[in-house]
Amino acid sequence: MQKHTSINRQVLLASRPTGKPTVSNFKLVETPIPEPQDSQVLLKTLYLSLDPYMRGRMSEAPSYAPPVKLGDVMCGGTVSRVISSRHPQFKEGDLVLGYAGWQDYAISDGRDLQPLGEMGQPSLALGVLGMPGFTAYMGLMDIGRPQKGETLVVAAATGAVGSVVGQIGKIMGCRVIGIAGNPEKCHYAVAELGFDACLNHHEAKLEDILREACPEGIDIYFENVGGKVLDAVLPLLNNKARIPVCGLIADYNRTALPEGPDRLGLLMSLILRKRLLLQGFIISLDYGPRYQEFRQPMEQWVREGRIKYREDIALGLEKAPEAFIGLLEGANFGKLVVKL
Ligand SMILES: NC(=O)c1ccc[n+]([C@@H]2O[C@H](COP(=O)([O-])OP(=O)(O)OC[C@H]3O[C@@H](n4cnc5c(N)ncnc54)[C@H](OP(=O)(O)O)[C@@H]3O)[C@@H](O)[C@H]2O)c1
Repeated sequence: MQKHTSINRQVLLASRPTGKPTVSNFKLVETPIPEPQDSQVLLKTLYLSLDPYMRGRMSEAPSYAPPVKLGDVMCGGTVSRVISSRHPQFKEGDLVLGYAGWQDYAISDGRDLQPLGEMGQPSLALGVLGMPGFTAYMGLMDIGRPQKGETLVVAAATGAVGSVVGQIGKIMGCRVIGIAGNPEKCHYAVAELGFDACLNHHEAKLEDILREACPEGIDIYFENVGGKVLDAVLPLLNNKARIPVCGLIADYNRTALPEGPDRLGLLMSLILRKRLLLQGFIISLDYGPRYQEFRQPMEQWVREGRIKYREDIALGLEKAPEAFIGLLEGANFGKLVVKL
């Protein structure tokens, strides 16, 4: 068995945030590297995925998954190398996708691991070829059901999910309007990703510029953010529009319901009159068994250059808290990954 003398750095959840997380909610500690027992492997983390859902795991508010306990290692998807194995199905050197969390090393009994084979760019297993790409594909294809000539609007348009949604929309023959947080992101969405237009959600009259960009209304709104973007989209929805409700990142740091008049009645009236379909989904709970449906076309599209991707790589585990806080405010440009 290979010997490792270095320590295991871990980022723990030190306290629960109220509103925006701060670096003091996390604590970096050093512990001894654990030894694998029979039927276990020792993993060295190469890449850690940072994703918006982690904000939910930091909170005790009811959710579809339990919170991270105070003092526990922050959860997270990882690409790791097996550096020693006492497990019959894994050998030293294997590259695996797992859920080792925010730490340099982890023990696994193999049940949460997927072999990756050798990949030129293993971090893609956390992005376009992994959970966010899968989310984009199933949410759009299964709930959004894009038809040629339809208008698709997607926010967080240059992010891990939104960038893939918009590009699949183009492949399906839709007119695609992105919404993103600054002019550089908007330029990238049009010039690199091939969207028909991209609007900055910080513009004062978002509803007006969105109306101009969608002269035939909106047939699919892929909901990633909520908040004022949803407000601008609602009046433009066409009859029978589909709204895959994937995420509401604008609300993740909220501590109370938004102020202003109750608009639930307006929303229900729109759902009825326009026969809208709004459907929430959680990729791991609702689509896990359909992963192969996504993998084959996506690998091909990426190989052919029809789906492009961009990664935002933070260097070093100690950068994870700051990078994660930035993700919730649009500081990332592309799929946010930590390289350890
Ligand atoms: N349902 C599921 O199973 C599932 C799975 C994966 C992800 N998701 C959801 O999908 C969404 C996108 O996730 P991702 O991993 O692809 O993240 P991402 O887009 O790579 O990063 C998050 C982006 O959200 C945007 N944003 C943040 N606050 C905003 C606000 N107040 N208003 C508008 N935009 C805001 C920022 O982009 P701009 O600078 O462009 O505004 C930021 O870069 C999230 O809501 C996430 O929770 C859901």
